[in-house]
Amino acid sequence: MDFLRIRGGKKLKGSVKISGAKNAALPLIASSILAKNEVTISNIPNVKDIKTLLKLLSNLGAEFSFENSTVKIDTSTINHTKANYDIVRTMRASILTLGPLLARFGHCEVSLPGGCAIGQRPIDLHLKALKRMGANIEIKQGYVVATAKSGLKGSTIVFDKVTVTGSENIIMAAALAKGNTKIINVAKEPEVVQLCEVLNKNGIKIEGIGTDEIEIEGSEGELLDMDPFDIIPDRIEAGTYLCAGAITNSKIKIENVIPAHLEAILIKLQEMGFSLNIGDDFVEIEENMSIDPVKIATSEYPGFPTDMQAQFMALSTQADGVSVIEERLFENRFMHVSELQRMGAKITLKGNIATIEGKTNLMGADVMATDLRASSALVLAGLAAEGITNIHRIYHLDRGYENLESKLTSLGADVERLSE
Ligand code: EPZ
Repeated sequence: MDFLRIRGGKKLKGSVKISGAKNAALPLIASSILAKNEVTISNIPNVKDIKTLLKLLSNLGAEFSFENSTVKIDTSTINHTKANYDIVRTMRASILTLGPLLARFGHCEVSLPGGCAIGQRPIDLHLKALKRMGANIEIKQGYVVATAKSGLKGSTIVFDKVTVTGSENIIMAAALAKGNTKIINVAKEPEVVQLCEVLNKNGIKIEGIGTDEIEIEGSEGELLDMDPFDIIPDRIEAGTYLCAGAITNSKIKIENVIPAHLEAILIKLQEMGFSLNIGDDFVEIEENMSIDPVKIATSEYPGFPTDMQAQFMALSTQADGVSVIEERLFENRFMHVSELQRMGAKITLKGNIATIEGKTNLMGADVMATDLRASSALVLAGLAAEGITNIHRIYHLDRGYENLESKLTSLGADVERLSE
């Protein structure tokens, strides 16, 4: 198994190009199930989760190629609709095949994803919404067995909670449904917005895109003819590199980003005293000798993203004073706390609130990655720590960060991938 060795304390400099967003690419690749033609999608990050979804679709009979950040995928050859446990258990986002498979084929079986390192993560809201659209849903031997023999019917859905993949599943299901589907309290994350925009450009009329109420006019089963398109930049990868600059007190530039998608992250960095130079498609962070403590509560977009909570916790260890971080989305998203403590961080946890006492001189240690974003917090801590940090189980990082070591090395960090 691979691990990362980081020799901390190096200053970073230069610029880094941000990859396409994993969490936009996943639903958009799944949306190719709604198309009759071969779909070409560019700016796809070469990360494990993308390969897992492509493998799942290929198991169903789809044909694809993935070269130079471009996926070409033909789902007209799909010959069965059972998404097996073996794949789904390795990636929860496999659930994104449920809506489009059911909408196109009127029947599918998708393994229940189960819990994960950050919490229970139920899919009850996805299932409730599909039922309202006329689907018959049963749970059999760990699978969601969904049928809609005469197609899905447009309906009004009110989500009790804002759910990102839940919204995406229902948007894709509604695209081929009979009649209009109104989704109230729909997620507004840029990844959800891009899914709506792509469907809208390819013949599915959607009103209210980017607001919390959208209306989708279903095509009554008529498949889409999808034009080529590019995936938006990854706002979480962008935020993680900004934190890498911040935690090492370095001036770096992140390129190929949409700064508007980063607003909540940029504002927190400014609150911590960092000066930012924000351009049309780049953000530069300046050196900053002292860091102010911060208060953060995670929330749905446009609030502060839960996917940046762990990275800001690592950064808070370097602030002069007490920072407070409240995790409001996932009940167990604090697995990085005990690993950061092994490096010397002073963090106390009470329920879903972490209090971080800074500034601590972090010391290199052997630490364990537990989920994707927790792992990136350990990388950040390793960059700032004195001595060597070995991060084990980095397959978590490989799920979502493209070329992490080479990007960090190009910025001047001392990072290498080794085998246990
Ligand atoms: C998406 O997960 C992302 N994954 C996550 O990114 C991200 O952390 C999360 O949204 C929140 O922004 C992808 O886009 C592939 P939710 P998702 O449904 O859709 C509750 C990463 O590191 N809920 O928006 O699974 C749920 O428990 C990952 O890249 C229900 O109760 O999250 C949570 O408290 C990890 N019932 C809240 O809603 C449901 O049916 C939001 O979850 C669905 C969700």
